[in-house]
Amino acid sequence: MGERKEVKIDKTELTRQKEIMLRLKENNNMEYQKNGKHKRYFVITFGCQQNVSDSEKLMGMLDEMGYQKTENREEADVVIINTCCVRENAELKLYGNIGAFKQLKIDNPNMLLCICGCMMEQEHAVATIKKKYRHVDLVFGTHNLYRFPELLERSMNEMYTLIDIMNTEGIIVEDIPVRREDKFKAWVTIMYGCNNFCSYCIVPHVRGRERSRLPEDIVTEIKQLAADGCKEITLLGQNVNSYGKDLKLELDFADLLKMVNDIEGIERIRFMTSHPKDISDKLIQTMSACKKVCEQLHLPFQAGSNRVLKAMNRKYTKEDYLEKIEKAKKALPGVALSTDVIVGFPGETDEDFEETLEVIKKVEFDQAFMFIYSKRTGTPAAEMENQISEDQKHKNFEKLMKLQNAIGKKANDHYLNKTVEVLVEGPSKNDATKFTGRSRTGKVVNFSGKGDIIGQLVNVKITEVFSWFLNGEME
Ligand code: SAH
Ligand code: SF4
Ligand code: F3S
Repeated sequence: MGERKEVKIDKTELTRQKEIMLRLKENNNMEYQKNGKHKRYFVITFGCQQNVSDSEKLMGMLDEMGYQKTENREEADVVIINTCCVRENAELKLYGNIGAFKQLKIDNPNMLLCICGCMMEQEHAVATIKKKYRHVDLVFGTHNLYRFPELLERSMNEMYTLIDIMNTEGIIVEDIPVRREDKFKAWVTIMYGCNNFCSYCIVPHVRGRERSRLPEDIVTEIKQLAADGCKEITLLGQNVNSYGKDLKLELDFADLLKMVNDIEGIERIRFMTSHPKDISDKLIQTMSACKKVCEQLHLPFQAGSNRVLKAMNRKYTKEDYLEKIEKAKKALPGVALSTDVIVGFPGETDEDFEETLEVIKKVEFDQAFMFIYSKRTGTPAAEMENQISEDQKHKNFEKLMKLQNAIGKKANDHYLNKTVEVLVEGPSKNDATKFTGRSRTGKVVNFSGKGDIIGQLVNVKITEVFSWFLNGEME
Protein backbone atom coordinates (compact mmCIF):
# COMPACT_ATOMS: atom_id res chain seq x y z
CA MET A 1 0.00 0.00 0.00
CA GLY A 2 2.74 2.49 1.02
CA GLU A 3 2.83 6.29 0.76
CA ARG A 4 0.36 7.72 -1.69
CA LYS A 5 0.54 11.12 -3.25
CA GLU A 6 -1.84 13.03 -5.38
CA VAL A 7 -1.29 13.03 -9.12
CA LYS A 8 -3.31 14.88 -11.70
CA ILE A 9 -3.67 13.22 -15.04
CA ASP A 10 -3.06 15.35 -18.07
CA LYS A 11 -4.86 15.08 -21.36
CA THR A 12 -1.76 13.92 -23.22
CA GLU A 13 -1.87 10.69 -21.18
CA LEU A 14 -5.41 10.05 -22.38
CA THR A 15 -4.53 10.92 -25.95
CA ARG A 16 -1.72 8.38 -25.69
CA GLN A 17 -4.11 5.64 -24.56
CA LYS A 18 -6.48 6.52 -27.41
CA GLU A 19 -3.65 6.22 -29.92
CA ILE A 20 -2.78 2.77 -28.56
CA MET A 21 -6.42 1.68 -28.77
CA LEU A 22 -6.50 2.78 -32.39
CA ARG A 23 -3.27 0.93 -33.15
CA LEU A 24 -4.54 -2.31 -31.61
CA LYS A 25 -7.82 -1.92 -33.45
CA GLU A 26 -5.99 -1.65 -36.77
CA ASN A 27 -3.95 -4.76 -35.93
CA ASN A 28 -7.07 -6.68 -34.96
CA ASN A 29 -8.85 -5.58 -38.13
CA MET A 30 -5.91 -6.72 -40.24
CA GLU A 31 -5.92 -10.11 -38.57
CA TYR A 32 -9.66 -10.40 -39.14
CA GLN A 33 -9.15 -9.72 -42.83
CA LYS A 34 -6.48 -12.42 -42.93
CA ASN A 35 -8.24 -15.24 -41.09
CA GLY A 36 -11.88 -14.14 -40.78
CA LYS A 37 -11.83 -14.46 -36.99
CA HIS A 38 -12.45 -11.70 -34.49
CA LYS A 39 -10.30 -11.56 -31.36
CA ARG A 40 -12.43 -12.13 -28.27
CA TYR A 41 -12.45 -11.23 -24.62
CA PHE A 42 -13.91 -12.84 -21.52
CA VAL A 43 -14.38 -10.97 -18.24
CA ILE A 44 -15.01 -12.28 -14.73
CA THR A 45 -16.02 -9.67 -12.16
CA PHE A 46 -15.97 -10.21 -8.40
CA GLY A 47 -17.14 -7.79 -5.73
CA CYS A 48 -19.37 -4.76 -5.62
CA GLN A 49 -20.95 -2.43 -8.17
CA GLN A 50 -17.78 -0.38 -8.21
CA ASN A 51 -16.02 -3.33 -9.78
CA VAL A 52 -18.95 -4.00 -12.12
CA SER A 53 -18.64 -0.41 -13.26
CA ASP A 54 -14.86 -0.72 -13.72
CA SER A 55 -15.39 -3.88 -15.77
CA GLU A 56 -17.78 -1.94 -18.00
CA LYS A 57 -14.92 0.47 -18.68
CA LEU A 58 -12.44 -2.31 -19.41
CA MET A 59 -14.94 -3.88 -21.81
CA GLY A 60 -15.58 -0.45 -23.36
CA MET A 61 -11.85 -0.13 -24.05
CA LEU A 62 -11.66 -3.67 -25.46
CA ASP A 63 -14.61 -2.95 -27.78
CA GLU A 64 -12.81 0.20 -28.89
CA MET A 65 -9.72 -1.91 -29.66
CA GLY A 66 -11.75 -4.16 -31.96
CA TYR A 67 -12.19 -7.14 -29.63
CA GLN A 68 -15.54 -8.88 -29.28
CA LYS A 69 -17.10 -10.15 -26.10
CA THR A 70 -17.53 -13.88 -25.56
CA GLU A 71 -19.21 -15.91 -22.85
CA ASN A 72 -16.99 -18.88 -23.66
CA ARG A 73 -13.66 -18.65 -21.84
CA GLU A 74 -12.06 -21.30 -24.04
CA GLU A 75 -12.16 -19.14 -27.15
CA ALA A 76 -10.94 -15.96 -25.45
CA ASP A 77 -7.79 -14.15 -26.58
CA VAL A 78 -7.93 -11.76 -23.61
CA VAL A 79 -9.22 -12.82 -20.19
CA ILE A 80 -9.73 -10.29 -17.40
CA ILE A 81 -10.40 -11.23 -13.80
CA ASN A 82 -11.47 -8.15 -11.82
CA THR A 83 -10.88 -8.99 -8.18
CA CYS A 84 -12.35 -8.15 -4.77
CA CYS A 85 -10.74 -8.57 -1.36
CA VAL A 86 -13.46 -7.39 1.00
CA ARG A 87 -13.71 -10.84 2.58
CA GLU A 88 -11.44 -13.86 2.55
CA ASN A 89 -13.77 -16.06 0.49
CA ALA A 90 -13.55 -13.52 -2.37
CA GLU A 91 -9.78 -14.08 -2.39
CA LEU A 92 -10.01 -17.86 -2.28
CA LYS A 93 -12.40 -17.85 -5.24
CA LEU A 94 -9.84 -15.90 -7.24
CA TYR A 95 -7.00 -18.38 -6.74
CA GLY A 96 -9.31 -21.21 -7.80
CA ASN A 97 -10.14 -19.32 -10.97
CA ILE A 98 -6.56 -18.42 -11.86
CA GLY A 99 -5.55 -22.05 -11.37
CA ALA A 100 -8.27 -23.18 -13.78
CA PHE A 101 -6.84 -20.99 -16.55
CA LYS A 102 -3.50 -22.79 -16.54
CA GLN A 103 -4.73 -25.60 -18.75
CA LEU A 104 -6.67 -23.21 -21.00
CA LYS A 105 -3.47 -21.27 -21.60
CA ILE A 106 -1.65 -24.47 -22.53
CA ASP A 107 -4.38 -25.20 -25.07
CA ASN A 108 -4.31 -21.62 -26.35
CA PRO A 109 -0.83 -20.11 -25.79
CA ASN A 110 -1.90 -16.77 -27.29
CA MET A 111 -4.42 -16.21 -24.53
CA LEU A 112 -3.55 -13.19 -22.34
CA LEU A 113 -4.58 -13.60 -18.70
CA CYS A 114 -5.01 -10.25 -16.92
CA ILE A 115 -5.78 -9.84 -13.21
CA CYS A 116 -6.86 -6.45 -11.88
CA GLY A 117 -9.02 -4.79 -9.23
CA CYS A 118 -8.95 -4.27 -5.48
CA MET A 119 -7.02 -7.37 -4.48
CA MET A 120 -4.12 -6.36 -6.69
CA GLU A 121 -3.66 -3.24 -4.53
CA GLN A 122 -2.41 -5.57 -1.79
CA GLU A 123 1.26 -6.41 -1.94
CA HIS A 124 0.84 -9.92 -0.53
CA ALA A 125 -1.66 -10.86 -3.24
CA VAL A 126 0.60 -9.64 -6.04
CA ALA A 127 3.50 -11.54 -4.46
CA THR A 128 1.42 -14.75 -4.40
CA ILE A 129 0.57 -14.40 -8.08
CA LYS A 130 4.19 -13.70 -8.98
CA LYS A 131 5.32 -16.76 -7.10
CA LYS A 132 2.61 -19.33 -7.68
CA TYR A 133 0.73 -18.36 -10.82
CA ARG A 134 3.35 -17.63 -13.44
CA HIS A 135 0.90 -18.15 -16.27
CA VAL A 136 -0.64 -14.74 -15.48
CA ASP A 137 0.37 -12.20 -18.14
CA LEU A 138 -0.68 -8.89 -16.65
CA VAL A 139 -1.46 -7.52 -13.18
CA PHE A 140 -2.74 -3.99 -12.59
CA GLY A 141 -4.65 -2.18 -9.85
CA THR A 142 -7.61 0.13 -9.38
CA HIS A 143 -5.75 3.43 -9.85
CA ASN A 144 -4.29 2.75 -13.29
CA LEU A 145 -7.27 1.17 -15.02
CA TYR A 146 -7.25 3.92 -17.63
CA ARG A 147 -3.78 2.70 -18.73
CA PHE A 148 -5.15 -0.72 -19.68
CA PRO A 149 -4.60 -0.32 -23.48
CA GLU A 150 -0.92 0.44 -22.97
CA LEU A 151 -0.45 -2.38 -20.46
CA LEU A 152 -2.25 -4.87 -22.69
CA GLU A 153 -0.05 -3.96 -25.63
CA ARG A 154 3.11 -4.23 -23.55
CA SER A 155 2.14 -7.56 -22.01
CA MET A 156 1.81 -9.07 -25.50
CA ASN A 157 5.57 -8.78 -25.86
CA GLU A 158 6.60 -9.75 -22.33
CA MET A 159 7.97 -13.14 -21.33
CA TYR A 160 7.09 -12.71 -17.66
CA THR A 161 4.10 -11.38 -15.75
CA LEU A 162 3.87 -7.64 -16.31
CA ILE A 163 3.01 -5.96 -13.02
CA ASP A 164 1.91 -2.34 -12.95
CA ILE A 165 0.46 -1.16 -9.65
CA MET A 166 0.32 2.58 -9.23
CA ASN A 167 1.03 3.89 -5.75
CA THR A 168 -0.84 7.06 -6.51
CA GLU A 169 -4.41 8.15 -6.44
CA GLY A 170 -6.40 11.35 -6.59
CA ILE A 171 -6.90 10.91 -10.29
CA ILE A 172 -10.24 10.81 -11.96
CA VAL A 173 -10.10 10.02 -15.62
CA GLU A 174 -13.13 11.04 -17.64
CA ASP A 175 -13.99 9.92 -21.16
CA ILE A 176 -13.01 6.25 -20.85
CA PRO A 177 -15.24 4.29 -23.22
CA VAL A 178 -17.91 2.23 -21.41
CA ARG A 179 -19.73 -0.88 -22.49
CA ARG A 180 -23.13 -0.88 -20.79
CA GLU A 181 -24.81 -4.26 -20.58
CA ASP A 182 -28.22 -2.76 -20.02
CA LYS A 183 -29.91 -0.22 -22.26
CA PHE A 184 -32.50 1.04 -19.81
CA LYS A 185 -30.57 1.02 -16.52
CA ALA A 186 -27.09 2.37 -15.83
CA TRP A 187 -24.61 2.70 -13.00
CA VAL A 188 -22.97 6.08 -12.74
CA THR A 189 -20.03 6.48 -10.37
CA ILE A 190 -20.14 9.87 -8.69
CA MET A 191 -17.18 9.39 -6.37
CA TYR A 192 -14.30 7.03 -5.81
CA GLY A 193 -12.63 5.83 -2.61
CA CYS A 194 -13.55 6.12 1.04
CA ASN A 195 -12.29 8.14 4.02
CA ASN A 196 -14.08 6.27 6.78
CA PHE A 197 -11.66 3.54 7.74
CA CYS A 198 -14.15 1.29 9.49
CA SER A 199 -11.80 -0.87 11.52
CA TYR A 200 -12.72 -4.14 9.73
CA CYS A 201 -12.68 -2.82 6.17
CA ILE A 202 -10.04 -3.05 3.46
CA VAL A 203 -11.82 -0.80 0.93
CA PRO A 204 -10.14 2.53 1.87
CA HIS A 205 -6.77 0.74 1.67
CA VAL A 206 -7.35 -0.50 -1.86
CA ARG A 207 -9.55 2.23 -3.31
CA GLY A 208 -7.85 5.26 -1.77
CA ARG A 209 -9.34 8.48 -0.43
CA GLU A 210 -12.64 10.04 -1.48
CA ARG A 211 -12.55 11.79 -4.82
CA SER A 212 -15.73 13.29 -6.26
CA ARG A 213 -16.38 13.68 -9.96
CA LEU A 214 -17.34 17.18 -11.07
CA PRO A 215 -21.12 17.67 -11.16
CA GLU A 216 -20.99 18.85 -14.79
CA ASP A 217 -19.21 15.63 -15.84
CA ILE A 218 -21.85 13.54 -14.05
CA VAL A 219 -24.74 15.50 -15.58
CA THR A 220 -23.23 15.31 -19.07
CA GLU A 221 -22.85 11.52 -18.77
CA ILE A 222 -26.44 11.09 -17.57
CA LYS A 223 -27.85 13.37 -20.28
CA GLN A 224 -26.07 11.22 -22.87
CA LEU A 225 -27.48 8.07 -21.26
CA ALA A 226 -30.99 9.59 -21.35
CA ALA A 227 -30.50 10.48 -25.03
CA ASP A 228 -29.60 6.81 -25.65
CA GLY A 229 -32.88 5.66 -24.07
CA CYS A 230 -31.75 4.97 -20.49
CA LYS A 231 -34.54 5.37 -17.90
CA GLU A 232 -32.97 4.43 -14.59
CA ILE A 233 -29.76 5.64 -13.01
CA THR A 234 -28.01 4.33 -9.90
CA LEU A 235 -25.49 6.80 -8.50
CA LEU A 236 -22.53 4.94 -7.06
CA GLY A 237 -19.97 5.58 -4.36
CA GLN A 238 -18.73 3.92 -1.16
CA ASN A 239 -20.30 6.77 0.81
CA VAL A 240 -22.41 8.93 -1.51
CA ASN A 241 -23.49 11.20 1.35
CA SER A 242 -20.08 12.76 1.48
CA TYR A 243 -20.18 13.57 -2.24
CA GLY A 244 -18.65 16.96 -3.02
CA LYS A 245 -16.81 17.47 0.26
CA ASP A 246 -13.47 17.35 -1.54
CA LEU A 247 -14.58 19.73 -4.30
CA LYS A 248 -14.23 23.44 -3.71
CA LEU A 249 -17.88 23.95 -4.59
CA GLU A 250 -21.02 24.83 -2.62
CA LEU A 251 -22.69 21.58 -3.43
CA ASP A 252 -23.59 18.36 -1.61
CA PHE A 253 -25.16 15.02 -2.52
CA ALA A 254 -28.71 16.33 -2.06
CA ASP A 255 -27.95 19.14 -4.55
CA LEU A 256 -26.57 16.63 -7.01
CA LEU A 257 -29.74 14.52 -6.67
CA LYS A 258 -31.80 17.60 -7.59
CA MET A 259 -29.65 18.20 -10.65
CA VAL A 260 -30.08 14.60 -11.81
CA ASN A 261 -33.81 14.76 -11.06
CA ASP A 262 -34.07 17.62 -13.58
CA ILE A 263 -32.61 15.60 -16.46
CA GLU A 264 -35.27 14.93 -19.04
CA GLY A 265 -35.80 11.29 -20.04
CA ILE A 266 -34.51 9.82 -16.77
CA GLU A 267 -37.46 8.35 -14.89
CA ARG A 268 -35.87 6.75 -11.84
CA ILE A 269 -32.91 7.54 -9.63
CA ARG A 270 -31.34 5.25 -7.05
CA PHE A 271 -28.07 5.54 -5.15
CA MET A 272 -25.73 3.55 -2.95
CA THR A 273 -24.15 3.36 -0.48
CA SER A 274 -25.16 5.76 2.30
CA HIS A 275 -23.32 5.90 5.59
CA PRO A 276 -25.68 6.37 8.56
CA LYS A 277 -23.44 9.03 10.11
CA ASP A 278 -23.66 11.21 7.00
CA ILE A 279 -27.30 10.86 5.95
CA SER A 280 -28.81 14.31 6.57
CA ASP A 281 -32.34 15.63 7.04
CA LYS A 282 -31.76 17.64 3.89
CA LEU A 283 -31.10 14.44 1.96
CA ILE A 284 -34.25 12.73 3.24
CA GLN A 285 -36.30 15.82 2.38
CA THR A 286 -34.72 15.96 -1.07
CA MET A 287 -35.50 12.29 -1.65
CA SER A 288 -39.10 13.00 -0.79
CA ALA A 289 -39.31 16.14 -2.96
CA CYS A 290 -37.62 14.67 -6.06
CA LYS A 291 -40.24 12.57 -7.79
CA LYS A 292 -37.75 10.48 -9.73
CA VAL A 293 -35.81 9.42 -6.64
CA CYS A 294 -37.11 5.94 -5.78
CA GLU A 295 -38.47 4.95 -2.38
CA GLN A 296 -35.48 2.82 -1.59
CA LEU A 297 -32.66 3.26 0.88
CA HIS A 298 -29.66 1.03 1.53
CA LEU A 299 -28.32 1.98 4.95
CA PRO A 300 -25.81 -0.48 6.44
CA PHE A 301 -25.90 -0.63 10.24
CA GLN A 302 -23.28 -3.43 10.62
CA ALA A 303 -23.97 -4.08 14.32
CA GLY A 304 -26.57 -3.28 16.97
CA SER A 305 -24.33 -2.86 19.99
CA ASN A 306 -22.91 0.61 20.63
CA ARG A 307 -19.76 -0.91 22.04
CA VAL A 308 -19.18 -2.90 18.84
CA LEU A 309 -20.10 0.10 16.65
CA LYS A 310 -17.45 2.10 18.47
CA ALA A 311 -14.84 -0.60 17.98
CA MET A 312 -15.84 -0.69 14.33
CA ASN A 313 -15.21 3.07 14.10
CA ARG A 314 -18.68 3.63 12.63
CA LYS A 315 -19.28 6.95 14.45
CA TYR A 316 -23.00 6.50 15.21
CA THR A 317 -25.00 4.70 17.86
CA LYS A 318 -27.86 2.25 17.56
CA GLU A 319 -30.17 5.06 18.70
CA ASP A 320 -28.89 7.48 16.01
CA TYR A 321 -29.42 4.79 13.43
CA LEU A 322 -32.96 3.95 14.47
CA GLU A 323 -33.85 7.65 14.55
CA LYS A 324 -32.65 8.12 10.95
CA ILE A 325 -34.65 5.06 9.87
CA GLU A 326 -37.79 6.51 11.51
CA LYS A 327 -37.27 9.79 9.67
CA ALA A 328 -36.88 7.97 6.37
CA LYS A 329 -39.99 5.87 6.96
CA LYS A 330 -42.01 8.97 7.75
CA ALA A 331 -40.80 11.09 4.86
CA LEU A 332 -40.88 8.31 2.26
CA PRO A 333 -44.07 6.25 2.55
CA GLY A 334 -43.58 2.64 1.45
CA VAL A 335 -39.77 2.99 1.42
CA ALA A 336 -37.90 -0.31 0.93
CA LEU A 337 -35.04 -0.49 3.40
CA SER A 338 -31.96 -2.64 3.06
CA THR A 339 -28.81 -3.00 5.09
CA ASP A 340 -25.49 -4.76 5.63
CA VAL A 341 -24.72 -6.63 8.84
CA ILE A 342 -21.50 -8.18 10.11
CA VAL A 343 -21.65 -11.15 12.49
CA GLY A 344 -18.76 -12.01 14.78
CA PHE A 345 -16.74 -8.79 14.92
CA PRO A 346 -13.90 -9.26 17.46
CA GLY A 347 -15.23 -9.13 21.00
CA GLU A 348 -18.91 -9.44 20.01
CA THR A 349 -20.71 -11.07 22.96
CA ASP A 350 -24.08 -12.84 22.98
CA GLU A 351 -25.61 -9.65 24.41
CA ASP A 352 -24.08 -7.57 21.61
CA PHE A 353 -25.40 -9.98 19.01
CA GLU A 354 -28.88 -9.82 20.57
CA GLU A 355 -28.82 -6.08 19.88
CA THR A 356 -28.16 -6.77 16.21
CA LEU A 357 -31.22 -9.05 16.18
CA GLU A 358 -33.18 -6.32 17.92
CA VAL A 359 -32.41 -3.79 15.16
CA ILE A 360 -33.38 -6.36 12.51
CA LYS A 361 -36.72 -6.90 14.26
CA LYS A 362 -37.41 -3.21 14.86
CA VAL A 363 -36.66 -1.94 11.37
CA GLU A 364 -38.09 -4.87 9.37
CA PHE A 365 -35.71 -4.51 6.44
CA ASP A 366 -36.84 -5.65 3.01
CA GLN A 367 -33.40 -7.08 2.51
CA ALA A 368 -30.27 -7.57 4.60
CA PHE A 369 -26.87 -8.53 3.24
CA MET A 370 -25.35 -10.55 6.05
CA PHE A 371 -21.65 -11.26 6.37
CA ILE A 372 -19.49 -13.31 8.68
CA TYR A 373 -16.63 -11.14 9.93
CA SER A 374 -13.47 -11.84 7.94
CA LYS A 375 -10.01 -10.78 9.10
CA ARG A 376 -8.35 -8.44 6.60
CA THR A 377 -4.60 -7.98 6.81
CA GLY A 378 -3.72 -4.33 7.35
CA THR A 379 -6.95 -3.38 9.13
CA PRO A 380 -7.03 -2.60 12.90
CA ALA A 381 -9.70 -5.23 13.61
CA ALA A 382 -7.40 -7.97 12.31
CA GLU A 383 -4.99 -7.11 15.15
CA MET A 384 -7.65 -7.26 17.88
CA GLU A 385 -7.04 -10.08 20.32
CA ASN A 386 -10.62 -11.10 21.05
CA GLN A 387 -11.41 -12.79 17.71
CA ILE A 388 -14.56 -14.93 17.74
CA SER A 389 -14.39 -18.65 16.96
CA GLU A 390 -15.58 -19.79 13.52
CA ASP A 391 -18.12 -21.99 15.24
CA GLN A 392 -19.69 -19.15 17.18
CA LYS A 393 -19.74 -16.88 14.13
CA HIS A 394 -21.52 -19.52 12.06
CA LYS A 395 -24.05 -20.26 14.80
CA ASN A 396 -25.03 -16.62 15.11
CA PHE A 397 -25.04 -16.14 11.37
CA GLU A 398 -27.61 -18.94 10.97
CA LYS A 399 -29.78 -17.32 13.63
CA LEU A 400 -29.64 -13.97 11.91
CA MET A 401 -30.43 -15.44 8.49
CA LYS A 402 -33.44 -17.28 9.81
CA LEU A 403 -34.84 -14.17 11.41
CA GLN A 404 -34.26 -11.96 8.37
CA ASN A 405 -35.73 -14.49 5.93
CA ALA A 406 -39.00 -14.46 7.85
CA ILE A 407 -39.00 -10.65 8.01
CA GLY A 408 -38.12 -10.28 4.31
CA LYS A 409 -41.15 -12.35 3.31
CA LYS A 410 -43.35 -10.27 5.61
CA ALA A 411 -42.02 -7.05 4.05
CA ASN A 412 -43.37 -8.26 0.70
CA ASP A 413 -46.82 -9.25 1.96
CA HIS A 414 -48.26 -5.76 1.84
CA TYR A 415 -47.77 -5.65 -1.95
CA LEU A 416 -50.62 -8.15 -2.47
CA ASN A 417 -53.45 -6.61 -4.57
CA LYS A 418 -51.52 -3.32 -4.83
CA THR A 419 -50.55 -1.75 -8.14
CA VAL A 420 -46.89 -0.96 -8.67
CA GLU A 421 -44.98 0.79 -11.43
CA VAL A 422 -42.55 -1.56 -13.20
CA LEU A 423 -39.67 -0.74 -15.53
CA VAL A 424 -39.88 -3.66 -17.97
CA GLU A 425 -36.48 -5.33 -18.50
CA GLY A 426 -37.39 -8.23 -20.80
CA PRO A 427 -38.95 -11.68 -20.84
CA SER A 428 -38.98 -13.52 -17.51
CA LYS A 429 -36.13 -16.04 -17.14
CA ASN A 430 -38.35 -18.77 -15.74
CA ASP A 431 -41.36 -18.30 -17.99
CA ALA A 432 -40.80 -16.76 -21.43
CA THR A 433 -44.52 -15.97 -21.79
CA LYS A 434 -44.10 -13.43 -18.99
CA PHE A 435 -42.21 -10.20 -18.60
CA THR A 436 -39.93 -9.20 -15.78
CA GLY A 437 -38.86 -5.88 -14.33
CA ARG A 438 -38.47 -3.99 -11.08
CA SER A 439 -40.74 -1.81 -9.00
CA ARG A 440 -39.60 1.61 -7.77
CA THR A 441 -38.75 -0.10 -4.50
CA GLY A 442 -36.44 -2.52 -6.34
CA LYS A 443 -38.66 -5.62 -6.12
CA VAL A 444 -38.44 -8.11 -8.99
CA VAL A 445 -41.91 -8.34 -10.57
CA ASN A 446 -42.85 -11.07 -13.05
CA PHE A 447 -46.09 -10.42 -14.89
CA SER A 448 -48.24 -11.25 -17.85
CA GLY A 449 -48.61 -8.39 -20.29
CA LYS A 450 -48.51 -7.67 -23.98
CA GLY A 451 -47.15 -5.31 -26.57
CA ASP A 452 -43.82 -3.69 -27.20
CA ILE A 453 -43.24 -2.79 -23.56
CA ILE A 454 -39.56 -3.57 -22.94
CA GLY A 455 -37.92 -0.44 -21.57
CA GLN A 456 -41.31 1.08 -20.70
CA LEU A 457 -42.87 1.89 -17.34
CA VAL A 458 -46.11 -0.04 -16.88
CA ASN A 459 -48.53 -0.56 -14.01
CA VAL A 460 -48.79 -4.09 -12.63
CA LYS A 461 -51.30 -5.41 -10.12
CA ILE A 462 -49.64 -7.84 -7.70
CA THR A 463 -51.44 -11.18 -7.44
CA GLU A 464 -48.88 -13.36 -5.65
CA VAL A 465 -46.12 -12.62 -3.16
CA PHE A 466 -42.92 -14.60 -2.54
CA SER A 467 -39.77 -13.94 -0.53
CA TRP A 468 -37.61 -12.93 -3.50
CA PHE A 469 -40.11 -11.71 -6.11
CA LEU A 470 -43.70 -10.71 -6.83
CA ASN A 471 -46.09 -11.97 -9.53
CA GLY A 472 -48.76 -9.88 -11.17
CA GLU A 473 -50.77 -8.77 -14.18
CA MET A 474 -50.35 -5.68 -16.27
CA GLU A 475 -53.23 -3.24 -15.89
N1 SAH B 1 -19.13 1.38 1.47
C1 SAH B 1 -20.17 0.52 1.73
C2 SAH B 1 -19.91 -0.95 1.50
C3 SAH B 1 -18.57 -1.50 1.65
S1 SAH B 1 -18.27 -3.20 1.53
C4 SAH B 1 -20.61 0.80 3.13
O1 SAH B 1 -19.92 1.38 3.91
O2 SAH B 1 -21.70 0.45 3.43
C5 SAH B 1 -19.83 -3.96 1.71
C6 SAH B 1 -20.07 -4.60 3.00
O3 SAH B 1 -19.15 -5.64 3.25
C7 SAH B 1 -19.97 -3.71 4.22
O4 SAH B 1 -21.08 -2.92 4.41
C8 SAH B 1 -19.77 -4.72 5.33
O5 SAH B 1 -21.00 -5.15 5.83
C9 SAH B 1 -19.10 -5.88 4.62
N2 SAH B 1 -17.70 -6.03 5.03
C10 SAH B 1 -16.69 -5.15 4.85
N3 SAH B 1 -15.55 -5.63 5.39
C11 SAH B 1 -15.85 -6.82 5.94
C12 SAH B 1 -15.09 -7.80 6.66
N4 SAH B 1 -13.81 -7.63 6.93
N5 SAH B 1 -15.73 -8.92 7.06
C13 SAH B 1 -17.04 -9.11 6.79
N6 SAH B 1 -17.79 -8.23 6.13
C14 SAH B 1 -17.21 -7.09 5.70
FE1 SF4 C 1 -15.58 0.20 4.23
FE2 SF4 C 1 -16.64 1.73 6.08
FE3 SF4 C 1 -15.72 2.83 3.83
FE4 SF4 C 1 -17.90 1.34 3.76
S1 SF4 C 1 -17.68 3.27 4.87
S2 SF4 C 1 -16.19 1.24 2.36
S3 SF4 C 1 -17.52 -0.22 5.29
S4 SF4 C 1 -14.53 1.82 5.40
FE1 F3S D 1 -14.63 -5.64 -3.16
FE2 F3S D 1 -13.29 -3.57 -3.99
FE3 F3S D 1 -15.90 -3.48 -3.96
S1 F3S D 1 -12.78 -4.82 -2.25
S2 F3S D 1 -16.46 -4.82 -2.29
S3 F3S D 1 -14.71 -4.83 -5.19
S4 F3S D 1 -14.53 -1.78 -3.60
